[in-house]
Amino acid sequence: MAKQNIYDNDTFFDNFKNLRSNEINFNDVIESPIITAMLPDLKGKKVLDIGCGMGQHAMQYSLAGAASVLGIDISEKMISYAREKNYSANISYLVMAFEDLDRLDEKFDVITSSLALDYVEDFGALMKQIRSMLNDGGQFVFSMSHPIATAYDGQYDRYTRTKDGVRLYANLHNYGIEGLRKFRWVVDEYEVYHRTFATLVNGMASAGFVIEECQESHLPEEIRIKYQDKFGGVIHQPDFIFFRCRK
Ligand SMILES: C[S@@+](CC[C@H](N)C(=O)[O-])C[C@H]1O[C@@H](n2cnc3c(N)ncnc32)[C@H](O)[C@@H]1O
Repeated sequence: MAKQNIYDNDTFFDNFKNLRSNEINFNDVIESPIITAMLPDLKGKKVLDIGCGMGQHAMQYSLAGAASVLGIDISEKMISYAREKNYSANISYLVMAFEDLDRLDEKFDVITSSLALDYVEDFGALMKQIRSMLNDGGQFVFSMSHPIATAYDGQYDRYTRTKDGVRLYANLHNYGIEGLRKFRWVVDEYEVYHRTFATLVNGMASAGFVIEECQESHLPEEIRIKYQDKFGGVIHQPDFIFFRCRK
């Protein structure tokens, strides 16, 4: 299976680090509050965070009382940042691709993943692998790009706008054609996999998961209005989709 590791590209890593550490960013303003609200009580739980990046969520889960947190990520740069800045005695980090999770001979109570599964070629196979790593009754809570947001080819504006630039409609490109999409985001040929909503749901269902909750990007109106340029698109097109599944 194809694996990509764009986060070890110096330019991409530095840009992502700057975006992520900006006080008003998509991760902290939209993704983190929604996934946090969907998580079970982590006290005493053994947690795995897939595609943990710089370790902010791992640190959050440790502070929420998890017994242990293991963060895995394909990027050495991400993992060395996480080890340096988001260290705690009950957190460990591993450079590992999610395609290689079968090498981990461990089970977890809760598995999470924040915005990392855009990069997996075989979503269904990964769902099966993740389910096999959960203890009975264990939960998998994750976010990824919304299928509406990945139905994009980078050639046109994501929105049809008024003459003044106000967003009127979100534009979808080939929603029904699944596969690799390339567009400019920090680098010229940023790559993600586009899948339909049905493929996501069927991937989880075929793996044997019970889907307990689904959410899409949303945020308080006052924040959307205050940061209209950045977040104004959220009412036209949800950037992220979230699921909580149970084994
Ligand atoms: C958008 S970042 C999110 C990082 C972190 N979860 C967060 O919320 O800040 C996506 C992460 O997925 C990781 N990733 C991409 N492909 C991966 C793979 N095949 N295996 C493991 N991690 C991967 C990247 O290295 C990156 O750290």
